[in-house]
Amino acid sequence: MAADDVPASLAAAHRAIEEALVHVCDRGLIDVSAPIADAVRYSMLGGGKRLRPQLVLAVYRAAGGTGDASLLAASVEIVHAYSLVHDDLPCMDNDSVRRGRPTLHRVFGVTVATIAGVTMVPFAARTALEGAHALGLPLEACGSIVRQLMRASGAGGMVGGQLLDLEGEGKALSLADLERIHRAKTGALIAASVRIGAIAASASGAHARALDRYGESVGLAFQIADDVLDATATSEQLGKTAGRDAALGKVTYPAVLGVEGAIARASELADEACRALEPVSLLTPELEHLARFSVSRRS
Ligand code: IPE
Ligand code: IPE
Ligand code: MG
Ligand code: MG
Ligand code: MG
Repeated sequence: MAADDVPASLAAAHRAIEEALVHVCDRGLIDVSAPIADAVRYSMLGGGKRLRPQLVLAVYRAAGGTGDASLLAASVEIVHAYSLVHDDLPCMDNDSVRRGRPTLHRVFGVTVATIAGVTMVPFAARTALEGAHALGLPLEACGSIVRQLMRASGAGGMVGGQLLDLEGEGKALSLADLERIHRAKTGALIAASVRIGAIAASASGAHARALDRYGESVGLAFQIADDVLDATATSEQLGKTAGRDAALGKVTYPAVLGVEGAIARASELADEACRALEPVSLLTPELEHLARFSVSRRS
């Protein structure tokens, strides 16, 4: 999609997200000593596309929410930023560049990076709860939002997927195994971002089910596109080291389906995501753009 097709509301949402992230760092890290607080700020305020918080806000609006959900949006980005810190550690993908800068452990050392990452999990949970309270949501919805975020982050979601990803290095995995890894390590948090926006707007029934399908499809599509970019883009474009998956012996969509096959699968998933929302009239320009952007992005 051409840059001028980006709905203006997404640029405004991006600004609100950046402001919310600065705000939660300023308020939420006062009891955290340096260098951990500095490390957390480095990982959270250092750029990034902010897709997950954008999804929270766009779903919230599409489903009829009228309040300020920026703290909720920030909470999912905290989990995402933490996942990147640990993903880059020497015991995981051992990467030296992230978002165009040295990785956290390169700047602060492995011990601080590890602890900063762990610090961000309760930080995210607290921020999600504050975000839910700020919207005046009923207690049950507040609990449900924090539960969704923590479940998606944990052993049944992102962390579990990361373990499967590492265990899969150098192995011949089936497409079904690979899909399971991708849905867990990346899809779960993206799906949770959508669900959190939906819960915050009190979406239920057919609306909630359609949004769930949208989130699941975008989540898988996003990681397939990440695999494609790793194999086809440059490190400068990506702000991280290109070709890392092949170097580490990861099983990826381009490795299994070929680059063209992987691109086709990702676009099919973006189409499916949009189709899920059409019948319930939730396909706003923002949600359509975010689904298409997940696969057409250049970084
Ligand atoms: C990279 O995520 C890691 C994956 C889960 C694929 P993003 O591509 O969203 O990274 P940033 O936040 O824009 O840096
Ligand atoms: C990361 O997948 C998934 C996470 C949960 C962080 P990758 O290892 O492919 O992400 P990049 O390519 O390093 O950003
Ligand atoms: Mg990884
Ligand atoms: Mg990685
Ligand atoms: Mg990758």
